[in-house]
Amino acid sequence: MSNKATLSYNEKTYELNIHPGTMGDEAVDITNLMGDSGLITLDSGYKNTGSTKSKITFIDGDKGILLYRGYPIEQLAEKSNFLEVSYLLIHGELPTDVQMAEFSGSISNHTLVHENVKKFLDAYPSNTHPMGVMMAVICSLSSFYPNNANPKTSPEEVEVTIHRLMAKMATIAAWTFKKSMGHPYNYPNNKLGYVSNFLQMMFGLRTDDYHPDPIIVDALDKLLILHADHEQNCSASTVRMVGSSHVNLYAAIAAGIGALWGPLHGGANQEVIEMLENIKAAGGDVKKFIEKAKDKNDPFRLMGFGHRVYKNFDPRAKIIKQSCDQVLAKLGINDPVLDIAKQLEEAALNDPYFIERKLYPNVDFYSGIIYRAIGIPTEMFTVMFALGRLPGWIAQWKEMREMGEPIGRPRQLYLGNGPRDYINIQKR
Ligand code: SDX
Repeated sequence: MSNKATLSYNEKTYELNIHPGTMGDEAVDITNLMGDSGLITLDSGYKNTGSTKSKITFIDGDKGILLYRGYPIEQLAEKSNFLEVSYLLIHGELPTDVQMAEFSGSISNHTLVHENVKKFLDAYPSNTHPMGVMMAVICSLSSFYPNNANPKTSPEEVEVTIHRLMAKMATIAAWTFKKSMGHPYNYPNNKLGYVSNFLQMMFGLRTDDYHPDPIIVDALDKLLILHADHEQNCSASTVRMVGSSHVNLYAAIAAGIGALWGPLHGGANQEVIEMLENIKAAGGDVKKFIEKAKDKNDPFRLMGFGHRVYKNFDPRAKIIKQSCDQVLAKLGINDPVLDIAKQLEEAALNDPYFIERKLYPNVDFYSGIIYRAIGIPTEMFTVMFALGRLPGWIAQWKEMREMGEPIGRPRQLYLGNGPRDYINIQKR
């Protein structure tokens, strides 16, 4: 393979370096393009543009491959656990016993949030979307911890901030749910593991009266692993962009929560269940909704379908679909919405519109069905996505910081007015 590309423009030729990736991916380096040629590149939505070099996650969209630090997602989902995967993403290697004990022990020590956080939660209307609360409260943590994780902060303080976020995000998520239900807050029980502690804060009436079903703990732990990172997706890129201004980590994560909230991104898991419920309420005619999704004049989209990178099955969707069947069978739940989802998938995967556009189920298509079976309400689905994605966001921010990347500041192609003189057009 050549390590150079050439660009011919205005009777000049420019040489551009090609950088090879570990897995056969390649990138043409345009760092000097504007300086040499005066040209910028244009790529709405960054569909063809690499924003950084990274060692965290690799996706092969055509083959449906997803690796976290080189480990296949299928193996991690089956053999690891969420905190171990979080350590792997953030630090680059699987932890030793000692490292794992320190990491999980420190996270357990940071599960409490300042009592004043309750005043934030009490101030919101009861029908507030939990993602709006999460975004605000996570950012407000920067006010409670003055030694924020920013460039002047020592690596030790950065590590403490990372543990604080991993611990407190779960507590804040559970308390946001409790607030929306009008129930009393449940405090963390640090004798429990990460997922069991989250579940008891969510569903326990007191700290010691809730004993989560191991089936549910395992299912939720697996879902968190599957959501933990996904290279330069919209929210991870947002965290890197916001973090590149050297603001503290809490603010960068809050920005990532905002990006994930969108229905085209993490908000899709809530939209999928609402879509499936609508199809069920309309009589379950999946073919009618497939036609609506294909109709350019109809704003309806098949939520949970399609992906910017995967042009084959999203490997996470495959694992979640299998887990759906197992969890619902073990819990003895027959959810008609699962049958509708499977019929929808079957119809879409045999329809030329979806086949031509390589539209397959993505991570959001089946995840909501398991959340529902666990007892998590639809409005909390994207909060669950954020809880899972937190270690990935942190890993992306940490890598950006350690690489000393410059502040992100894209260029533009200007199509507005040329220079013109001011004439007041208001009647005096
Ligand atoms: C996540 O980036 C990540 O990695 C994200 C994520 C992660 O882990 O971080 O994987 C998580 O966000 C998953 C995606 C969740 N979003 C949804 O399920 C929403 C529904 N999906 C689409 O809106 C769409 O597929 C996107 C947003 C996911 C991808 O959009 P793209 O890459 O910009 O593709 P596009 O909108 O240009 O679509 C290409 C074509 C278009 O048709 P044509 O103009 O070529 O005729 O495919 C069509 C689109 O109309 N299309 C769909 C469709 N998705 C794309 N048509 C119907 N239903 C859909 N779901």
